Amino acid sequence: MSKAPVVEVKDLVVRYDEQVVLNGIDLTVKPGEVTCIIGGSGSGKSTLLKCLLGILQPVGGSVKVLGVDMVNASPRAVEKVYRRIGMVYQAGALFGSMTVEENVSLPLREHSDLDAQIIDIAVRMKLGLVRLSGFEKRMPNQLSGGQVKRVAFARAIAMDPQVLFCDEPSAGLDPRIGRGIDDLIRNLNRAFNMAMVVVTHEMESVKIIADRIVMLAPMAGGARVVFSGSYDELMACEEPVVREFVTRAPLHEPRAEAKEVLRQLVGED
Ligand SMILES: Nc1ncnc2c1ncn2[C@@H]1O[C@H](COP(=O)(O)OP(=O)(O)O)[C@@H](O)[C@H]1O
Ligand SMILES: [Mg+2]
Repeated sequence: MSKAPVVEVKDLVVRYDEQVVLNGIDLTVKPGEVTCIIGGSGSGKSTLLKCLLGILQPVGGSVKVLGVDMVNASPRAVEKVYRRIGMVYQAGALFGSMTVEENVSLPLREHSDLDAQIIDIAVRMKLGLVRLSGFEKRMPNQLSGGQVKRVAFARAIAMDPQVLFCDEPSAGLDPRIGRGIDDLIRNLNRAFNMAMVVVTHEMESVKIIADRIVMLAPMAGGARVVFSGSYDELMACEEPVVREFVTRAPLHEPRAEAKEVLRQLVGED
């Protein structure tokens, strides 16, 4: 396999209307590596991911995925990239009117010429990988939050992608179920040498899954990369904005908890 980066972002600038959200972001993801994009809420992590997927047009800089310039490529070239990458959306985003099996087989039915029988075998294999054998005929509303996420992973890897993108894969799951998703990410990465770009704000996940970490932090004029390196380097980094994130993360849950305590104390609803 080639050693060329699977993702290469240079000097990326993104604006929503008047607001610059990302200001000069560089990011390189090597084949077979798990890169975590971390940072507080609103630091531009999802925005960066949207640029990698070619969903959002930057105002400056370049984005290459599997060697293809996602900003200037033809729709056809972008479509080709889509067949070689997978995406796990934040809420799972399964089609509610389709069974588990239909959800997982969708990319194969739409983008391959495989026989129904072969697709069936592929779907069973992917469901086995996410430990959901036997769930083929279930509807999404008959699944737990963790199971929905697992099906979303099975669908995202249906076409054996070279790179898998995930936005907050364990958000909203209870911590034990979230750890299961971390294990799944690690296992898929090891078993298939699949590169992954995982957006997360949970340091426990980062510790388990990340080969490399890139941290974004909002600043006047747009978010920048404030750290790039290994987990050990992150722990040793003395940059105040990094230290604050690392020592206080996960930022969301404790705040939600604190709010709940306050609510009970004050007696509001
Ligand atoms: N569609 C949009 N239009 C305008 N502003 C947006 C839009 N999406 C996100 N933003 C703003 O851009 C910033 C980064 O958002 P986002 O990429 O979602 O951050 P994160 O994923 O790190 O929480 C935030 O200030 C957010 O309010
Ligand atoms: Mg986000």
